[in-house]
Amino acid sequence: MSGEGRIPTAVLISGRGSNMVALIEAARAVDYPARIALVLSNLPNAGGLARAEAAGIPVATVDHRAFGKDREAFERAVDNTLRQSGVELVALAGFMRVLTPWFIGRWQGRLINIHPSLLPAFPGLNTHARALEAGVAEHGCTVHLVTSELDAGPTIAQARVPVLPGDDAATLAARVLEQEHRIYPQALAAVASGLHCRR
Ligand code: GRF
Repeated sequence: MSGEGRIPTAVLISGRGSNMVALIEAARAVDYPARIALVLSNLPNAGGLARAEAAGIPVATVDHRAFGKDREAFERAVDNTLRQSGVELVALAGFMRVLTPWFIGRWQGRLINIHPSLLPAFPGLNTHARALEAGVAEHGCTVHLVTSELDAGPTIAQARVPVLPGDDAATLAARVLEQEHRIYPQALAAVASGLHCRR
């Protein structure tokens, strides 16, 4: 697939960006249906920004703190940056801002997220500790379309891992993260291929 035929995709991050790296690496394949056109962070010191730059990906920061409590003003700035970069698909990868219905509506069907649990179990934060506390035998991760209900949109891909005796939140998180890096590139490819067909 030619560079121009691929779906220009932004990855939104707030932190270290290991999922972002997995997406960038997958998108190096010549036949991958998306290309990473932009990595955008809401925090200027997100570790993933340097990793994206090192990979030759354009980066941008829209610092949410500059907008005070006005979430929509922050999102309008993000939206402008995405559109200026020609982005058609957005992948949230450890992006720690809750998005308003305005932004979600604008990107409907083109906005995906990875969440470290087997949704609908454990939406929200601290999923690994909560899974251990609940005593579940299996845990995992979910890639889903973003809708206005937090961590609740239609599932695109899921991977399961066992919870092992002696696990703590860190060991369980590491086992899940390995699966995140496997399924997020697959899920992004599936969504990008679908958009491609609708062009
Ligand atoms: C991942 O566990 C992801 O599922 C969650 O935030 C974490 C981000 O990690 N939404 P990274 O920045 O991709 O390494």
